[in-house]
This record gives sequence, C-alpha cells and structure tokens, in this order.
Amino acid sequence: MKILIDSANIEKINRLSEIYYVHGITTNPSILAKEESYPEKSLSQISNVIDEKMEFHIQVLAETAEDMLKEANHILNTYGRSVYIKVPVSEEGFKAIKWLAKDGVKTTATAVFSVQQGILAALAGAHYIAPYVNRIDNFNGNGIKLIQRLSELFEKKQIKTKILAASFKNTKQIEDAFLAGAHTVTVPPDLLDKMGSHKGTDEGIKGFIHDYEAVFK
Ligand code: E4P
Repeated sequence: MKILIDSANIEKINRLSEIYYVHGITTNPSILAKEESYPEKSLSQISNVIDEKMEFHIQVLAETAEDMLKEANHILNTYGRSVYIKVPVSEEGFKAIKWLAKDGVKTTATAVFSVQQGILAALAGAHYIAPYVNRIDNFNGNGIKLIQRLSELFEKKQIKTKILAASFKNTKQIEDAFLAGAHTVTVPPDLLDKMGSHKGTDEGIKGFIHDYEAVFK
C-alpha cells in the first residue's frame, strides 16, 4: 500500500513528506502548469527530494509514439533511469508503452477510463495503470468499481501490472480505492492533510492537556 503526492509544489511536497510516510511524487503537465517556476525547475527540485525508495512519475506531453519515446529518453537522462514515464492511453500512447517496456523502462499508463484500456495497457507492459477515479465518476461511470474489476482480473490472470488510483476529490474515494484493490494512490496535498486530521483528535488533545493541568498544575 503506497501513497504518492500528486503535486509539483516543492513547499507542499517538503512539508507533507516530513509529516507523513510518502512513497513518491506524481506530476502531469496541468500540475506543472500550476506552479510559478518553469517545469524543469519544479522537476529538478522534486528530484532532489526523491530518494532511492521513492517513486517519481513524470508525464510525456508529445502526441506521437516516436516523440513520446524521445521525450521519455530526455526525462530518463535528466532525472534518472528509475523515473516512471507516464503515458496517456491514446493509440500512440499504447505503442509508446510497448516500446518503452521492451527497453525495460517503467511506465505508468495514465488517463485510464475503462477496464478495457486497463487490460490493453497491462498487456503492453505498463508497470502501473492509473484510473482517474473522480473524472470517471463525472462521466457517470464508477471509478471505484472499475478499480475493483481490474484488480480482480489482474489477480485471476496473475498479471503483474499494478493499479495506481488517481484523480481524487475527496478522502472517501481514496479509502475506497485501496479497499477496491488499488496498490498505490496519488493524492493532492489538501486531501493528504484531510486524511491525517480529525476534529475529534484535536479536541481529544486539548482535553488531555486541560484535564492534566487542572489537577497537577
Ligand atoms: C495523476 O497522476 C493524475 O494525472 C491526476 O491525479 C489527475 O487528477 P485530476 O483529475 O484532479 O486532474
């Protein structure tokens, strides 16, 4: 069970990885575009906090398999061979995943919206497939059910590809994704904060201090 931070904001990444046990970082072009600094700067700042036990997922922006391959090689040469190359599951993306897998590159097949896309990405050799839970629900689908079906299928057929659940808008979706069989989730900073906090805990702590000091002060 792994939790990644879905962000390119170095301040938030530093703060959260100091508090929680996080297993890595995922970015995509939209996430990089939210930051004030250039993508190269954000990515290199992140790569400095990634240790050998952590995962770093960087997405290609190119639209043809050939260009995706070139971009992937640039990413691997710049940020290290252990980076997971995120590739959206377009026709060209499937091709690129197949080629990269042949070269031993770890890929994350991203923007998965159906079980069938997940099957094809797994067969192409993706290390991870990333179903977009909340966006699937917005299409009147059921993101959690999709994870459950893929998880059952992969187990039944002994497929090694892992499920990296993504696109969350609330913490219940994250909990449900794990229960449905996701191996890893990628969580935006605000939701990671919400996962770790509860009003009841804060009130409890206040109560402990109050009760103790009322007697022993
Ligand atoms: C991460 O890998 C995905 O790109 C991300 O979770 C998508 O999230 P969004 O639907 O909030 O953009």
